[in-house]
Amino acid sequence: METGKPLISQERITAFQQDLLVWYQQNKRDLPWRKDQDPYKVWVSEIMLQQTKVATVVPYFERFMKKFPTLTDLANADEQEVLKQWEGLGYYSRARNLHQAVQEVRDEYGSKVPDQPEKIEKLRGIGPYTKGAILSIAFDQKQPAVDGNVMRVFSRWFELYQDIALPRTRVLMEQYAMEVIPETNPGDFNQALMELGATICTPTSPSCLLCPVQHVCQANQEGVQEDLPVKKKSKPPKETEVLFLAIHADGEILLEKRPDTGLLAGLWSLPTIEKTSEPFVDELIQEYCQGFPSSFTIKGEITNFEHIFSHRHWKIKVIEVELADKPNSLADSYQFCSHHSIQQIAFANVYAKAIQQIKANTGLLLVP
Ligand code: ADE
Repeated sequence: METGKPLISQERITAFQQDLLVWYQQNKRDLPWRKDQDPYKVWVSEIMLQQTKVATVVPYFERFMKKFPTLTDLANADEQEVLKQWEGLGYYSRARNLHQAVQEVRDEYGSKVPDQPEKIEKLRGIGPYTKGAILSIAFDQKQPAVDGNVMRVFSRWFELYQDIALPRTRVLMEQYAMEVIPETNPGDFNQALMELGATICTPTSPSCLLCPVQHVCQANQEGVQEDLPVKKKSKPPKETEVLFLAIHADGEILLEKRPDTGLLAGLWSLPTIEKTSEPFVDELIQEYCQGFPSSFTIKGEITNFEHIFSHRHWKIKVIEVELADKPNSLADSYQFCSHHSIQQIAFANVYAKAIQQIKANTGLLLVP
């Protein structure tokens, strides 16, 4: 605490530290990243767990560790191979940042994850939460690891009405965390907080009767646990009409690499046109296909569906376009794929779904 004046009484802290740790030891889920304190495994698990549920992460984590058992294995892997292992988990920039960060650890720190806060926080993709989680869980350091679960728990324990979407609320929560985390077993304590948030102190209908620290929870005593935490509603994702082109020639389909920044950065995709203004579909497609040396035919719509990302709501039409001849050469950010080569590529869910529909509705990309 910077101000010197404690936010919580010592008596209250001692009461819940012990109760929470005992509850965690008896009730913690048997999760693969909890088998040891290997910083590399803790790191990978924490990145996978961002915005993703434990049950979803478990099989991905196990497969990932089989494929890349050590930090050096991951650092030396090809980016497409890493993205392939991440396929379906979403938020692919997490995988690319992790890959680049472990390469930095290989090159700068002899493949040993640094245990100094000022070094670890400089690595790509490591924010305050991940830094605190790695340092506390893998290196036994007393550091706050405040994620959404922990903010919900603290909002209720201490009856805090600050909006948890605001950065300054996270800073306040980190101050509370530094007061409640014990010197011994800080990693277990942080995981106990997360576990409590995930299994008992849930967003709706929290199981207060089963809570090991109900006796110290101010919100429970006031009966306001369902009103907390306060979180200002974010804007709904922006709706955009989007065209996916299934451009094919000689039974192969064209893929395009997305730009290095922004949504689904650096991933292979179907050629995608975000329709921001009026032009008609045919005009947009003609403009896109102008660069091809041979003639093309717009065959029509294969399917349409919607996909919602955190900030974008895509209304998608998948359009089939037949090219008379496959071009002899293409820029690096394009490739034609056969049914075989397309299997090696990692696709975001939205494109995987479109490709599945293309296979089902056109006979393209099917095993001959
Ligand atoms: N969510 C984020 N980190 C976690 C962890 N280590 N265990 C369980 N859930 C988590």
